[in-house]
Amino acid sequence: MYKQHLKDLISLKYRHKTPLAFVRTFGCKQNENDGERIKGILSGAGFSFCENPENADIIVYNTCAVRENAELKVFGILGEVKHFKEKNPDLTVILCGCMASEEHVIEKIKKTYKQVDIIFGTSAINELPRILCEHLEKHKFICDTNEYENYFSEGNEIVRTSDFMAGVPIMYGCNNFCTYCIVPYVRGREKSRPSEDILSEVKNLADKGYKEIMLLGQNVNSYGKGLSEDIDFPRLLRMINEIDGDFRIRFMSSHPKNATKELIDAIIECDKVCKHFHLPVQSGSDEILSAMNRNYTAESYLSIVNYARNKIPDFSFSTDIIVGFPNESEDDFVKTLDLMKKVQFDSVFSFIYSKRSGTKAALIEDKISDKEKSERMTRLLSLQREISTEHYKRFIGKTLTVLAEEENSEKGVVLGKSDEFIIVEFKADKDVIGNFVKVKITGAHNWALIGEIINI
Ligand code: 5AD
Ligand code: SF4
Repeated sequence: MYKQHLKDLISLKYRHKTPLAFVRTFGCKQNENDGERIKGILSGAGFSFCENPENADIIVYNTCAVRENAELKVFGILGEVKHFKEKNPDLTVILCGCMASEEHVIEKIKKTYKQVDIIFGTSAINELPRILCEHLEKHKFICDTNEYENYFSEGNEIVRTSDFMAGVPIMYGCNNFCTYCIVPYVRGREKSRPSEDILSEVKNLADKGYKEIMLLGQNVNSYGKGLSEDIDFPRLLRMINEIDGDFRIRFMSSHPKNATKELIDAIIECDKVCKHFHLPVQSGSDEILSAMNRNYTAESYLSIVNYARNKIPDFSFSTDIIVGFPNESEDDFVKTLDLMKKVQFDSVFSFIYSKRSGTKAALIEDKISDKEKSERMTRLLSLQREISTEHYKRFIGKTLTVLAEEENSEKGVVLGKSDEFIIVEFKADKDVIGNFVKVKITGAHNWALIGEIINI
């Protein structure tokens, strides 16, 4: 009902021009997908999109709250937006995403950032037509951080950034309460999407020729809880694998405590599922893992890795690591480096611990200095560079299937990713972008493989 009403309001308000929206998303794949759904709603209401916020009639910042830096960046940008609003008082500025569900952010916006017209929380995307109608009609500030049940966008348009790679949400929220993490507070409890809706979205994307489907959720491994159907994540993977089409399947993010042998078996047995597992370990020290409330040990993590590698020696693991969790000792940190050496990750996304108010870890008095933390980060990065360079060599001489993703015109090369989620650089015409190609690996950087495209 509100969708049509919004469309009418917009066409009346912008009688002589096509209204322009600028949507900028920060953070993870889930947020990117939220951004695409927001764009879908705005496009349905009659908006086109612009690349420069100065030209926009409506600006949306879809934000991330995982680390403080991401928040500071948004506050900086909102400062600039004030000038756009002075030039164009009719401009509507919206703040949504994870920051928009944080109490301290809302207070700060209300007090100091009067250029913001609308704040809405992560589960309110489908409420956007109603919220916008209310704002346009009553010209008042709106802050809607209620938790809505209809999170998934069944039936709504999605404006996708890529025409060959797509994210598909399968669950939403998190029940884990890792002590450093703000996500459960801003995204609420886990809710799984019925498999029928997921299968129908994937089928639709496969029919359109999409080559990579990334299943999304804060902890996709616990998919299925709370649904009336008898389903779990390994079974969902097997069902998606049955869908016809030339595409591959990835998923993100996972939790080691829910990474079972059944899941590894499903990954291995499903031909469309990439033989790569992004499995955030966060630390190699059992004491720190316990303080993080992670509910697994370095040894149990290693047993998952070994189970997969016993079946497929080239099976690829990547991970997230937090450096400098409160009171992490040198000994704890060395255990993380040891685990990295044992696992031989193909890539590591490492972050210096960032204190998030409202989380349990924020209450711990931390005795480790920032200097020490950044020194550890340097050591970790240098070790990972060594590991990648060495470990990537296992592919030299082999032929990998690569999805060509983008061109680097300066270097005259195309970049893509292998099944193992490793960047592969090769010379090719940019027409290959969006397609699978076979690349024979001839060498390795510490961040990518180098190869030659082969015709088969
Ligand atoms: N500080 C630093 N890194 C964090 N992450 C989550 N919360 C924090 C925090 N407070 C990292 C974790 C997670 C990734 C998405 O972000 O490694 O896996
Ligand atoms: Fe955050 Fe832990 Fe949930 Fe991941 S599993 S979103 S790190 S609380």
